[in-house]
Amino acid sequence: MKETTIRVNANKKKSRINPEIYGHFSEHLGRCIYNGLYVGEDSSIPNSGGVRKDVIEALKNIKIPVLRWPGGCFADEYHWKDGIGEKSARKKMINTNWGHVVEDNSFGTHEFMELCEELGCQPYVAGNMGSGTVQELAEWVEYMTFDGVSPMAELRRKNGREKPWKLKYLGIGNESWGCGGNMRPEYYSDLYKQYQSFCKNFSGNELYKVACGPNADDYNWTEVVMKNLNEYHTKAISLHYYTIPSGNWNAKGSATGFTDEEYYATVSKTLYMDELVTKHGEIMDKYDPEKKIGLIVDEWGCWYDVEEGTNPGFLYQQNTMRDAIVAAENLNIFNAHSDRVVMANLAQAVNVLQSVILTEGDKMLLTPTYHVFDLYKEHQGAELLESECDSFEVGTEEYKAPAISQSVSADSSGNILITASNCSLSDSVRVKVMLDGFSPADVKGRILCAAAGEFNSFDCPDKVKPADFGSAVIEGGSVVFEMPPCSVVSLKALK
Ligand code: AHR
Repeated sequence: MKETTIRVNANKKKSRINPEIYGHFSEHLGRCIYNGLYVGEDSSIPNSGGVRKDVIEALKNIKIPVLRWPGGCFADEYHWKDGIGEKSARKKMINTNWGHVVEDNSFGTHEFMELCEELGCQPYVAGNMGSGTVQELAEWVEYMTFDGVSPMAELRRKNGREKPWKLKYLGIGNESWGCGGNMRPEYYSDLYKQYQSFCKNFSGNELYKVACGPNADDYNWTEVVMKNLNEYHTKAISLHYYTIPSGNWNAKGSATGFTDEEYYATVSKTLYMDELVTKHGEIMDKYDPEKKIGLIVDEWGCWYDVEEGTNPGFLYQQNTMRDAIVAAENLNIFNAHSDRVVMANLAQAVNVLQSVILTEGDKMLLTPTYHVFDLYKEHQGAELLESECDSFEVGTEEYKAPAISQSVSADSSGNILITASNCSLSDSVRVKVMLDGFSPADVKGRILCAAAGEFNSFDCPDKVKPADFGSAVIEGGSVVFEMPPCSVVSLKALK
């Protein structure tokens, strides 16, 4: 059996892992909002204010910290006033980005903000800069957050909500380099300054404004935006990067049927996230050495060809153990960069791209990716500890990756959480975690393990699910365990 060592310095706390790194994204796209999260109050599916209760419970269980809405590309054609007031009177519009279907606006600001209240998570609203006006965005902020006498606060009250909501995260424009307006970074940053100037802090609410950052490796975008904006204009910039196994948008690859070569291509393309975050971070360091401006990876995940027979505009895909490995690797990367990465949002929460939840009629299932968020949830708010792994590499001639990747953090009670993934398709690995400055009294944990192509279906919803992991032991002060091929573990070393 192969062996590897993870060395942890329990005395070296590197940065706090912002809970928002475990965030999600929900767009008016396919069946994410409608029939995914929202079924309407008259549905026979048990719901709370129209939102499925099973989905609410599942998201609460993984401690969803933040939910981004209403897009994505949809955000830049969304006019919020169409989504308030009496539902039957709300405007119907074309969802031009996603299948040209009718959007009836029955899920709008009130429904979203109430959903976030129910989930106990932060709302992250993406404002329309591409086709909306400065006034429209300014009035949305006033509508949501102002407690006094004003036209928008009165309108909100008329629509049944007396008290304002708290809104921290406000994105201004989505992919403004693409679907959000095809702008140059010079133009975007000027326009951003104009829009953000009129988004005010009302009634004790403090906005955390997020500017549109780069598409993947567009380092020039980051350079220009960072040169033109400072911490008074923006609290963070975003980054979007999707894992596409083939690298070809026209034939991305199947979600469930893939070769070993395609599997390792997926893993190695996911690990590119580390290079992206590092290099964008270096540019940010030049302009903001004190790291006052955060990096928010507000869209990430695997993007495959849609499931056969489904609407190509709906981006519905299955989710296998390969996706679980991808999720674990990405979360390890975000944790490792938590001095700069303050939030990340998996695309998307339900029924779209790398979802944590899939629904079909009244049925709901949890994907392998969901279980990784469950295994990792205790990293939220914990202190990242310095850790290093001497893993050997696996893969093919072209696509290589270290077999083991890890995150180690300390919680407020002084216990240590170790999460690790083994992306090898064939190697079991004996992992020894040496904990400098910490003597574990006990260790317990869970494991998610399956063949890379396994997934949960509506006929067999629990095929891939975590199990107790009894084989971790303490040997001479180290935590020692065996990871089967294609597995993710979460271990708590108790003090
Ligand atoms: O998540 C799907 C789409 O991907 C989003 O709408 C857009 O922002 C990105 O290109």
